[in-house]
Amino acid sequence: MTRPEDSVRLVEVGARDGLQNEQRTLVPAIRAQLLTRLADAGLQTLEAGAFVSPRWVPQMAGTDEVFKALPARPDVTWTALVPNAQGLQAALDAGCREVAVFAAASEAFSQKNINCSIAQSLSRFQEVMVRAREAGVRVRGYVSCVLGCPFTGQVNVRDVATVSAALYGMGCYEISLGDTLGTGTPSATRALIEACAEEVPLSALAGHFHDTYGMAIANICAAMDAGVRVFDSSVSGLGGCPYSPGATGNVATEDVVYLLDGMGVRHGVNLDALIDIGTWIDAQLGRETASSVARAVLAKRRSGG
Ligand code: HMG
Ligand code: MG
Repeated sequence: MTRPEDSVRLVEVGARDGLQNEQRTLVPAIRAQLLTRLADAGLQTLEAGAFVSPRWVPQMAGTDEVFKALPARPDVTWTALVPNAQGLQAALDAGCREVAVFAAASEAFSQKNINCSIAQSLSRFQEVMVRAREAGVRVRGYVSCVLGCPFTGQVNVRDVATVSAALYGMGCYEISLGDTLGTGTPSATRALIEACAEEVPLSALAGHFHDTYGMAIANICAAMDAGVRVFDSSVSGLGGCPYSPGATGNVATEDVVYLLDGMGVRHGVNLDALIDIGTWIDAQLGRETASSVARAVLAKRRSGG
Protein backbone atom coordinates (compact mmCIF):
# COMPACT_ATOMS: atom_id res chain seq x y z
CA MET A 1 0.00 0.00 0.00
CA THR A 2 1.25 3.48 -0.83
CA ARG A 3 1.15 6.05 1.96
CA PRO A 4 0.87 9.77 1.19
CA GLU A 5 4.40 10.28 2.44
CA ASP A 6 5.62 7.94 -0.31
CA SER A 7 4.98 10.55 -2.98
CA VAL A 8 6.59 13.86 -3.85
CA ARG A 9 5.26 16.65 -6.06
CA LEU A 10 7.84 18.14 -8.41
CA VAL A 11 7.52 21.72 -9.64
CA GLU A 12 9.44 22.10 -12.89
CA VAL A 13 11.04 25.54 -13.02
CA GLY A 14 13.47 25.03 -15.91
CA ALA A 15 11.56 27.16 -18.41
CA ARG A 16 11.59 30.09 -15.96
CA ASP A 17 14.33 29.88 -13.33
CA GLY A 18 16.51 27.99 -15.78
CA LEU A 19 16.07 29.98 -18.98
CA GLN A 20 16.04 33.37 -17.23
CA ASN A 21 19.76 33.00 -16.64
CA GLU A 22 20.98 31.26 -19.78
CA GLN A 23 23.18 33.25 -22.16
CA ARG A 24 21.08 32.40 -25.19
CA THR A 25 17.47 33.65 -25.20
CA LEU A 26 15.02 31.16 -26.65
CA VAL A 27 12.01 32.21 -28.71
CA PRO A 28 8.56 31.58 -27.16
CA ALA A 29 7.80 28.69 -29.57
CA ILE A 30 10.82 26.69 -28.33
CA ARG A 31 10.00 27.52 -24.69
CA ALA A 32 6.44 26.25 -25.23
CA GLN A 33 7.79 23.11 -26.89
CA LEU A 34 10.07 22.52 -23.90
CA LEU A 35 7.16 22.89 -21.49
CA THR A 36 4.85 20.65 -23.51
CA ARG A 37 7.48 17.91 -23.72
CA LEU A 38 8.10 18.15 -19.97
CA ALA A 39 4.38 17.80 -19.30
CA ASP A 40 4.31 14.77 -21.62
CA ALA A 41 7.12 13.31 -19.49
CA GLY A 42 4.82 13.45 -16.46
CA LEU A 43 5.47 16.82 -14.82
CA GLN A 44 2.19 18.37 -13.71
CA THR A 45 3.20 21.75 -12.30
CA LEU A 46 5.42 23.82 -14.58
CA GLU A 47 6.57 27.43 -14.41
CA ALA A 48 6.17 28.69 -17.95
CA GLY A 49 7.76 32.12 -17.54
CA ALA A 50 7.68 35.45 -15.74
CA PHE A 51 5.65 38.61 -16.24
CA VAL A 52 8.51 40.86 -15.15
CA SER A 53 10.20 43.82 -16.78
CA PRO A 54 11.93 42.72 -20.01
CA ARG A 55 14.53 45.37 -19.24
CA TRP A 56 15.43 43.48 -16.06
CA VAL A 57 15.14 39.92 -17.42
CA PRO A 58 15.14 39.91 -21.25
CA GLN A 59 15.09 36.09 -21.40
CA MET A 60 11.51 36.11 -20.09
CA ALA A 61 10.16 38.55 -22.70
CA GLY A 62 7.31 36.97 -24.67
CA THR A 63 5.95 34.94 -21.75
CA ASP A 64 2.46 35.89 -23.00
CA GLU A 65 3.27 34.20 -26.31
CA VAL A 66 4.52 31.11 -24.47
CA PHE A 67 1.14 30.87 -22.71
CA LYS A 68 -0.74 31.25 -25.99
CA ALA A 69 1.24 28.34 -27.46
CA LEU A 70 0.67 25.97 -24.52
CA PRO A 71 -2.02 23.30 -24.78
CA ALA A 72 -4.90 23.43 -22.28
CA ARG A 73 -4.43 20.29 -20.23
CA PRO A 74 -6.65 19.53 -17.23
CA ASP A 75 -3.86 17.44 -15.65
CA VAL A 76 -1.26 20.24 -15.89
CA THR A 77 -0.85 23.61 -14.15
CA TRP A 78 1.17 26.20 -16.07
CA THR A 79 2.30 29.00 -13.74
CA ALA A 80 4.25 32.27 -13.97
CA LEU A 81 6.10 34.68 -11.70
CA VAL A 82 4.57 38.11 -11.11
CA PRO A 83 6.35 40.84 -9.13
CA ASN A 84 3.44 43.31 -8.91
CA ALA A 85 -0.12 44.11 -10.00
CA GLN A 86 1.09 44.98 -13.52
CA GLY A 87 2.60 41.50 -13.83
CA LEU A 88 -0.58 39.90 -12.52
CA GLN A 89 -2.69 41.76 -15.08
CA ALA A 90 -0.42 40.56 -17.88
CA ALA A 91 -0.67 37.00 -16.52
CA LEU A 92 -4.47 37.17 -16.39
CA ASP A 93 -4.59 38.58 -19.92
CA ALA A 94 -2.49 35.61 -21.07
CA GLY A 95 -4.94 33.17 -19.48
CA CYS A 96 -2.62 32.13 -16.64
CA ARG A 97 -4.51 30.32 -13.84
CA GLU A 98 -1.75 30.23 -11.22
CA VAL A 99 0.99 32.73 -10.40
CA ALA A 100 3.86 33.06 -7.94
CA VAL A 101 5.01 36.13 -6.06
CA PHE A 102 8.61 36.33 -4.88
CA ALA A 103 10.00 37.95 -1.76
CA ALA A 104 13.39 37.65 -0.09
CA ALA A 105 14.66 37.11 3.43
CA SER A 106 17.50 39.56 2.76
CA GLU A 107 16.96 43.30 2.29
CA ALA A 108 19.95 43.65 -0.05
CA PHE A 109 18.71 40.87 -2.32
CA SER A 110 15.18 42.30 -2.35
CA GLN A 111 16.55 45.65 -3.56
CA LYS A 112 18.73 44.08 -6.27
CA ASN A 113 16.05 41.67 -7.47
CA ILE A 114 12.85 43.72 -7.42
CA ASN A 115 14.06 47.22 -6.61
CA CYS A 116 12.20 47.57 -3.31
CA SER A 117 12.41 46.63 0.37
CA ILE A 118 10.94 43.43 1.80
CA ALA A 119 8.13 45.42 3.42
CA GLN A 120 7.32 47.23 0.15
CA SER A 121 7.28 43.91 -1.71
CA LEU A 122 4.89 42.39 0.81
CA SER A 123 2.54 45.33 0.48
CA ARG A 124 2.63 45.00 -3.35
CA PHE A 125 1.84 41.31 -2.98
CA GLN A 126 -1.20 42.14 -0.82
CA GLU A 127 -2.64 43.94 -3.84
CA VAL A 128 -1.72 41.01 -6.09
CA MET A 129 -3.45 38.60 -3.67
CA VAL A 130 -6.68 40.58 -3.62
CA ARG A 131 -6.88 40.78 -7.41
CA ALA A 132 -5.83 37.13 -7.86
CA ARG A 133 -8.52 36.00 -5.40
CA GLU A 134 -11.15 37.98 -7.35
CA ALA A 135 -9.96 36.28 -10.56
CA GLY A 136 -9.94 32.81 -8.94
CA VAL A 137 -6.18 32.44 -9.51
CA ARG A 138 -4.03 30.55 -7.02
CA VAL A 139 -0.84 32.18 -5.75
CA ARG A 140 2.36 30.48 -4.64
CA GLY A 141 4.97 32.39 -2.64
CA TYR A 142 8.74 32.26 -2.90
CA VAL A 143 11.26 33.34 -0.31
CA SER A 144 14.80 33.84 -1.65
CA CYS A 145 18.09 33.68 0.23
CA VAL A 146 16.77 31.24 2.83
CA LEU A 147 20.23 29.78 3.51
CA GLY A 148 22.46 32.73 2.65
CA CYS A 149 22.57 35.98 0.71
CA PRO A 150 25.05 36.76 -2.08
CA PHE A 151 25.43 40.32 -0.77
CA THR A 152 25.28 40.04 3.01
CA GLY A 153 26.21 36.42 3.76
CA GLN A 154 24.40 34.90 6.74
CA VAL A 155 20.60 34.92 6.87
CA ASN A 156 18.73 34.23 10.09
CA VAL A 157 16.16 31.43 9.74
CA ARG A 158 13.81 33.51 11.93
CA ASP A 159 13.75 36.17 9.19
CA VAL A 160 12.90 33.48 6.65
CA ALA A 161 10.10 32.19 8.90
CA THR A 162 8.72 35.72 9.32
CA VAL A 163 8.56 36.40 5.56
CA SER A 164 7.13 32.91 4.94
CA ALA A 165 4.42 33.53 7.56
CA ALA A 166 3.57 36.88 5.95
CA LEU A 167 3.14 35.29 2.50
CA TYR A 168 1.16 32.36 3.87
CA GLY A 169 -0.96 34.71 5.99
CA MET A 170 -1.93 36.79 2.95
CA GLY A 171 -3.13 33.67 1.13
CA CYS A 172 -0.24 31.98 -0.69
CA TYR A 173 -1.18 28.29 -0.75
CA GLU A 174 2.46 27.15 -0.66
CA ILE A 175 5.77 28.73 0.31
CA SER A 176 8.82 27.70 -1.69
CA LEU A 177 12.01 28.18 0.28
CA GLY A 178 14.76 29.24 -2.12
CA ASP A 179 18.41 28.52 -1.48
CA THR A 180 19.24 31.07 -4.17
CA LEU A 181 22.97 30.88 -3.64
CA GLY A 182 23.15 27.11 -3.22
CA THR A 183 25.34 27.38 -0.12
CA GLY A 184 23.03 25.44 2.21
CA THR A 185 23.99 22.17 3.87
CA PRO A 186 21.71 19.43 5.24
CA SER A 187 21.97 20.52 8.88
CA ALA A 188 21.18 24.13 7.98
CA THR A 189 18.30 22.90 5.82
CA ARG A 190 16.83 20.94 8.73
CA ALA A 191 17.08 23.97 11.04
CA LEU A 192 15.42 26.10 8.34
CA ILE A 193 12.48 23.72 7.87
CA GLU A 194 11.99 23.40 11.62
CA ALA A 195 11.92 27.19 12.04
CA CYS A 196 9.51 27.73 9.13
CA ALA A 197 7.23 24.88 10.22
CA GLU A 198 6.60 26.80 13.44
CA GLU A 199 4.91 29.51 11.34
CA VAL A 200 3.56 27.70 8.25
CA PRO A 201 2.12 24.15 8.06
CA LEU A 202 4.77 21.67 6.93
CA SER A 203 2.45 20.51 4.13
CA ALA A 204 2.57 24.06 2.69
CA LEU A 205 6.38 24.24 2.52
CA ALA A 206 8.41 23.43 -0.60
CA GLY A 207 12.17 23.23 -1.17
CA HIS A 208 13.90 25.16 -3.97
CA PHE A 209 17.59 24.32 -4.01
CA HIS A 210 20.19 25.71 -6.37
CA ASP A 211 23.14 23.37 -6.76
CA THR A 212 26.08 25.81 -6.75
CA TYR A 213 27.99 23.92 -4.03
CA GLY A 214 26.69 20.47 -5.06
CA MET A 215 24.57 20.18 -1.92
CA ALA A 216 21.08 20.24 -3.46
CA ILE A 217 20.37 16.51 -3.41
CA ALA A 218 21.67 16.21 0.16
CA ASN A 219 19.49 19.18 1.13
CA ILE A 220 16.44 17.58 -0.47
CA CYS A 221 17.08 14.43 1.59
CA ALA A 222 17.33 16.55 4.75
CA ALA A 223 14.13 18.42 3.87
CA MET A 224 12.35 15.12 3.19
CA ASP A 225 13.51 13.82 6.58
CA ALA A 226 12.00 16.96 8.07
CA GLY A 227 8.70 16.24 6.28
CA VAL A 228 8.77 18.38 3.10
CA ARG A 229 7.13 16.71 0.07
CA VAL A 230 7.28 19.37 -2.67
CA PHE A 231 10.48 20.27 -4.53
CA ASP A 232 11.34 22.62 -7.38
CA SER A 233 13.82 21.48 -10.02
CA SER A 234 15.03 22.33 -13.54
CA VAL A 235 15.51 19.89 -16.37
CA SER A 236 19.24 19.50 -17.05
CA GLY A 237 19.92 21.84 -14.10
CA LEU A 238 19.28 24.85 -16.33
CA GLY A 239 20.04 28.36 -15.22
CA GLY A 240 20.88 30.25 -12.06
CA CYS A 241 19.79 33.62 -10.77
CA PRO A 242 20.59 36.92 -12.52
CA TYR A 243 21.05 38.75 -9.21
CA SER A 244 23.05 36.06 -7.46
CA PRO A 245 26.59 36.18 -8.89
CA GLY A 246 28.08 32.74 -9.40
CA ALA A 247 24.92 30.82 -8.57
CA THR A 248 24.38 27.82 -10.82
CA GLY A 249 21.06 26.33 -11.81
CA ASN A 250 18.45 24.57 -9.76
CA VAL A 251 18.95 20.97 -8.85
CA ALA A 252 18.46 18.92 -12.04
CA THR A 253 15.05 17.27 -12.31
CA GLU A 254 16.79 14.12 -13.63
CA ASP A 255 18.85 13.88 -10.41
CA VAL A 256 15.80 14.32 -8.16
CA VAL A 257 13.82 11.72 -10.11
CA TYR A 258 16.71 9.24 -9.84
CA LEU A 259 16.93 9.90 -6.09
CA LEU A 260 13.19 9.39 -5.60
CA ASP A 261 13.23 6.19 -7.69
CA GLY A 262 16.00 4.87 -5.46
CA MET A 263 13.96 5.70 -2.36
CA GLY A 264 10.80 4.11 -3.77
CA VAL A 265 9.02 7.47 -3.61
CA ARG A 266 6.37 8.10 -6.30
CA HIS A 267 6.68 11.18 -8.54
CA GLY A 268 5.07 10.29 -11.88
CA VAL A 269 7.93 11.42 -14.14
CA ASN A 270 9.63 9.34 -16.84
CA LEU A 271 13.41 9.60 -16.40
CA ASP A 272 14.37 8.50 -19.93
CA ALA A 273 12.02 11.04 -21.51
CA LEU A 274 13.45 13.72 -19.22
CA ILE A 275 17.00 12.90 -20.32
CA ASP A 276 15.99 13.17 -23.98
CA ILE A 277 14.37 16.56 -23.33
CA GLY A 278 17.46 17.75 -21.44
CA THR A 279 19.71 16.73 -24.36
CA TRP A 280 17.46 18.59 -26.81
CA ILE A 281 17.23 21.81 -24.81
CA ASP A 282 20.98 21.80 -24.10
CA ALA A 283 21.58 21.66 -27.87
CA GLN A 284 19.24 24.63 -28.33
CA LEU A 285 21.21 26.57 -25.72
CA GLY A 286 24.70 25.38 -26.68
CA ARG A 287 25.44 24.11 -23.18
CA GLU A 288 26.37 20.88 -21.42
CA THR A 289 24.00 19.18 -19.01
CA ALA A 290 24.47 19.94 -15.31
CA SER A 291 22.77 16.67 -14.36
CA SER A 292 25.09 13.94 -13.08
CA VAL A 293 22.40 11.35 -13.75
CA ALA A 294 21.91 12.52 -17.35
CA ARG A 295 25.68 12.40 -17.93
CA ALA A 296 25.87 8.85 -16.58
CA VAL A 297 22.83 7.59 -18.49
CA LEU A 298 23.97 9.20 -21.75
CA ALA A 299 27.44 7.64 -21.39
CA LYS A 300 25.82 4.26 -20.76
CA ARG A 301 23.57 4.68 -23.81
CA ARG A 302 26.60 5.58 -25.95
CA SER A 303 28.44 2.46 -24.83
CA GLY A 304 25.35 0.40 -25.68
CA GLY A 305 24.74 -0.51 -22.00
P1 HMG B 1 11.11 49.04 -11.29
O1 HMG B 1 12.05 49.62 -12.31
O2 HMG B 1 11.29 49.45 -9.86
O3 HMG B 1 9.59 49.23 -11.73
O4 HMG B 1 11.21 47.47 -11.42
P2 HMG B 1 8.66 50.48 -11.84
O5 HMG B 1 7.38 50.13 -11.19
O6 HMG B 1 9.38 51.74 -11.40
O7 HMG B 1 8.42 50.58 -13.43
C1 HMG B 1 9.50 50.83 -14.30
C2 HMG B 1 9.17 50.26 -15.67
O8 HMG B 1 9.00 48.85 -15.55
C3 HMG B 1 7.88 50.81 -16.26
O9 HMG B 1 8.05 50.83 -17.67
C4 HMG B 1 6.87 49.74 -15.95
O10 HMG B 1 5.81 49.69 -16.88
C5 HMG B 1 7.72 48.47 -16.07
P3 HMG B 1 8.41 52.20 -18.43
O11 HMG B 1 7.28 53.13 -18.10
O12 HMG B 1 9.75 52.66 -17.88
O13 HMG B 1 8.49 51.77 -19.87
N1 HMG B 1 7.17 47.37 -15.28
C6 HMG B 1 6.90 46.17 -15.81
N2 HMG B 1 7.05 45.66 -17.06
C7 HMG B 1 6.66 44.38 -17.25
N3 HMG B 1 6.16 43.60 -16.28
C8 HMG B 1 5.99 44.07 -15.03
C9 HMG B 1 6.37 45.40 -14.76
N4 HMG B 1 6.34 46.16 -13.64
C10 HMG B 1 6.83 47.36 -13.99
N5 HMG B 1 5.50 43.27 -14.09
C11 HMG B 1 10.27 45.27 -11.21
C12 HMG B 1 10.47 46.63 -10.56
C13 HMG B 1 9.74 44.34 -10.16
C14 HMG B 1 9.31 45.39 -12.37
C15 HMG B 1 11.66 44.80 -11.74
O14 HMG B 1 12.58 44.89 -10.70
C16 HMG B 1 11.64 43.38 -12.28
O15 HMG B 1 10.97 43.09 -13.25
N6 HMG B 1 12.41 42.51 -11.65
C17 HMG B 1 12.45 41.11 -12.11
C18 HMG B 1 13.18 40.32 -11.14
C19 HMG B 1 13.24 38.87 -11.57
O16 HMG B 1 12.50 38.41 -12.44
N7 HMG B 1 14.14 38.13 -10.91
C20 HMG B 1 14.31 36.75 -11.17
C21 HMG B 1 13.20 35.94 -10.59
S1 HMG B 1 13.33 35.69 -8.82
C22 HMG B 1 14.31 34.29 -8.67
O17 HMG B 1 14.86 33.83 -9.61
C23 HMG B 1 14.39 33.63 -7.32
C24 HMG B 1 13.55 32.33 -7.24
O18 HMG B 1 13.94 31.41 -8.24
C25 HMG B 1 13.75 31.69 -5.84
C26 HMG B 1 15.24 31.53 -5.46
O19 HMG B 1 15.98 30.83 -6.15
O20 HMG B 1 15.61 32.19 -4.52
C27 HMG B 1 12.06 32.63 -7.41
MG1 MG C 1 15.64 30.07 -8.07
